[in-house]
Amino acid sequence: MQSVTDSLTVRDNRTGAEYEIPITDGTIKAADLGQIKLNDDTPGLATYDPGFVNTASCRSSVTYIDGEAGILEYRGYPIEQLAEKSNFLEVAYLLVHGDLPSKEQYDNWVHHITYHTFVHENVKAFMQGFRYDAHPMGMLMASVGALSTFYPEAANISDPDNRQIQIIRMIAKMPTLGAWAFRHAQGKPYVYPDNDLSYAENFMSMLFKMSEVKYDPDPRIAKALDTLFILHADHEQNCSTNAVRSVGSSQVDPYSAVSAGIGALFGPLHGGANEAVLKMLRRIGSKSEIPAFIEGVKAGNERLMGFGHRVYKNYDPRAKIIKKACDDVFEVTGVNPLLEVAQELEKIALEDEYFVKRKLYPNVDFYSGLIYEALEFPPEMFTVLFAIGRTPGWLAQWLELVQDKEQKIARPKQIYTGERKLDFVPAAERWA
Ligand code: CMC
Repeated sequence: MQSVTDSLTVRDNRTGAEYEIPITDGTIKAADLGQIKLNDDTPGLATYDPGFVNTASCRSSVTYIDGEAGILEYRGYPIEQLAEKSNFLEVAYLLVHGDLPSKEQYDNWVHHITYHTFVHENVKAFMQGFRYDAHPMGMLMASVGALSTFYPEAANISDPDNRQIQIIRMIAKMPTLGAWAFRHAQGKPYVYPDNDLSYAENFMSMLFKMSEVKYDPDPRIAKALDTLFILHADHEQNCSTNAVRSVGSSQVDPYSAVSAGIGALFGPLHGGANEAVLKMLRRIGSKSEIPAFIEGVKAGNERLMGFGHRVYKNYDPRAKIIKKACDDVFEVTGVNPLLEVAQELEKIALEDEYFVKRKLYPNVDFYSGLIYEALEFPPEMFTVLFAIGRTPGWLAQWLELVQDKEQKIARPKQIYTGERKLDFVPAAERWA
């Protein structure tokens, strides 16, 4: 990417002083504003940016997004090509290593990830200790965090070989932990990994196998799941990735950092929108109710869930691919009756001035919930599926963070709004 070096002249109207601030890659360094002071006794100027709406927190070569054009690329490769021609483990290699693997590298990578799918028996024991109705995301977050106690050497984050083995372990074990959290809620026995199967097939076996000697996954469903993992594998500095980077900046082990990412993804503003789409479609119920629903959205009564995006001001490229995966899944499971409502809703919204003017298009969550429901996942599992897919992205970003000399411990400033210099009165006197 071309780097443009220029400068910004800032005039402080409080003092009349002028400052020359360098511009690099379309940004100024917030620290450069620190020289702008009212006088020597006051702190320098800072920026105020809740939610990092206009602040770059890192340099990254993992994922490129052009929201206006609807472009998403991992390491420079368009998501459409990866979803069609690659597979999740190859994409995971690409994200983590920065390049596509040779045949030998790929075979090695797949072998190691397959080999590390088992977890220590004590992990199973403590997962069984969760309440019968424990949310699978809470179980996943806790178990991934707990893995740091099984691999204490993971704390040595400056050793490249050590980092690699923890990355392999995490990508390998995430489906095992996710599937066991799913079985737990159903009161079913946990199923051990089957290392003869592919990544997605093995996940299906651990989710659905009962008394049969070997689970026989439908390849079309396995392919759809693999594609969904690819689509979720990274999305640059989103809330959970930022959480991984922020916690990782303290130089803690990667299990603790990823566990923080899972916590962030658990939130309804991040991982939970596809569930909201399903609820909305169910409430609308039939095509004839759509016009009245759209009028309500336009009147500001509610939002059309699964539409709009902070970054994409065009069709979310992932939504297009998911729409196609819907066809493949419904061929096996039968069509989800809500699909008709969703397609009609999309058609009407895309022709309506309200949505056109605001550049509101379907996002990744508009169709993904329909697929997950057709696969008989309860809504609480939707975010677990997202987490499994996002793991290589979190780890690629973590790896980039720990090797980036410009990074420091994440420690934002604040604008203090509280009291100062109060005199403390002991409780006995206050309550007398
Ligand atoms: N339905 C109706 N109106 C909307 C919608 C919507 N889904 N989204 C935005 N708008 C309107 C909004 O009311 C505002 O209108 P006005 O200018 O008249 O006030 C305008 O569009 C701009 O909206 P905004 O809230 O300023 O946009 P934002 O970038 O802060 O919000 C969003 C992005 C995703 C939170 C929002 O579009 C939304 O709430 N969508 C529905 C929830 C959803 O589908 N979330 C999943 C996001 S994709 C998951 C991921 O990538 O992690």
